[in-house]
Amino acid sequence: MDNIVILTGAGISTESGMGTFRGAGGLWENRRVEDVATPEGFARDPEMVHRFYNMRRQKAASVRPNAAHEALARLQREHPGKVTLVTQNVDALHEAGGSDSVIHMHGRLAGALCAACDHRWEAPDEMHPGFPCPACAAPHARPDVVWFGEMPYHMEEIFDALSTCTLFAAIGTSGQVYPAAGFVQEAFRAGAHTVEINLEPSAVVSDFAETRFGPATQTVPAWVDEVLGR
Ligand code: APR
Repeated sequence: MDNIVILTGAGISTESGMGTFRGAGGLWENRRVEDVATPEGFARDPEMVHRFYNMRRQKAASVRPNAAHEALARLQREHPGKVTLVTQNVDALHEAGGSDSVIHMHGRLAGALCAACDHRWEAPDEMHPGFPCPACAAPHARPDVVWFGEMPYHMEEIFDALSTCTLFAAIGTSGQVYPAAGFVQEAFRAGAHTVEINLEPSAVVSDFAETRFGPATQTVPAWVDEVLGR
């Protein structure tokens, strides 16, 4: 019975309308990543960074999970072995699609974090500079998302799962951002079968034993059916 680890990226939410980071029309296209997704950018212009995440938070609240999110939730419910679902996405579409156990390695748009005391709470729809922390009152509230130069969350738990997995799938991720792009190698070292499921080959496609290309709403339900033996 397979011990499965799944890594998802922006591509699984594209058909829900969330938009990817890279590529034509991507979120980063008109913005410098260093301005909106680094601690330094936030220190320079917190108003602009909050505005960017307020917009994304509002967008995330208006979109619906798609057949790919729902298929992974089905896999988690019906597979008799362990299924660890790790996402780089900060939206809540896996949860909305029925997954009750999701590791958000890059944080969550719906979360707020106090940069002074590390307290976490549910973010209001709109955040602004100077918003006080409900625990320590410091005016340093920020979105609870992982920026470039920061350590992703839950890495120990993720590497533990990778070290014992027998099947690893990366879905809808361009393979350009580490450490996530290196998970396939960890899984390979553990002896797992590795599958890339993406619209097009990622930057690390050659690390995978198997590839499946196409829109996630088609490729993911078909792959889940196969894993469940249907
Ligand atoms: N179905 C499957 N894959 C798709 C689809 C689709 N409908 N649409 C796009 N893709 C693929 C693209 O081909 C691309 O390879 O999804 C991938 C999205 O890549 P990125 O935009 O780079 O997103 P991601 O890999 O999740 O980015 C990783 O980088 O910007 C940071 O922190 C941010 O978590 C993010 C991380």
